[in-house]
Amino acid sequence: MEELAPVSSNVVRHHSVISRAMREASNGHKGCVLWFTGLSGAGKSTLAHALEEELFGRQCQTCVLDGDNVRHGLCGDLGFSREDRQENIRRIAEMAKLFVETGTIVMTAFISPFREDRRKARSVIGERDFIEIFCDCPTEICESRDVKGHYKKARAGLIPEFTGITSPYETPENPDCVIDTSKLSLQESVGKIVNLLELSGLFLSDHFVPQAG
Ligand code: ADX
Repeated sequence: MEELAPVSSNVVRHHSVISRAMREASNGHKGCVLWFTGLSGAGKSTLAHALEEELFGRQCQTCVLDGDNVRHGLCGDLGFSREDRQENIRRIAEMAKLFVETGTIVMTAFISPFREDRRKARSVIGERDFIEIFCDCPTEICESRDVKGHYKKARAGLIPEFTGITSPYETPENPDCVIDTSKLSLQESVGKIVNLLELSGLFLSDHFVPQAG
């Protein structure tokens, strides 16, 4: 796992008496990070929140970390340069890792356009806890949706370095799951991911009754 060494040498880890395994046994499922990646407007947040509703309804411990929200707080000091996006994803990965240790199913919805940053996130969080979900949707469709009006502004030159228009999106080469949000309904997409989680052995106890279809 990749980890930055602390600037100070005078910090010592404290370990919780309540272990991750104890929390997971209590929750009835393992912790993991579902890392949604894709263009703005590809449906990452919509899907993450719909999935959270489904899992929450099944008594799972869940949380969604969403790009537009996190950039109002923890990452409010960051813009969209290559370096700032890298730092954005680094902080999210570290935060997601903390949540995973509590046995939570974490859903992150960030464009995370660069392969190297996603690779580092996977490394920080750990291979076995990281599930990369590519929300695959052609730029033209994201642009035609233009929910926030950002594509129009980007075309007019009002938003610099806009992903998919003036800044690259590097398509995942080997994602754990691909959701074509231009073809699947929201319910179908949620069902596909729930099936994947079930097959991966995430759910530990009988209180989870799969209903995905
Ligand atoms: S990331 O590239 O660092 O992963 P993040 O997911 O946090 O991006 O934020 C993306 C959101 O910020 C988009 O959904 C959009 O609403 C907004 N945004 C503002 N400027 C840009 C830009 N230049 N490129 C992409 N998204 C932008």
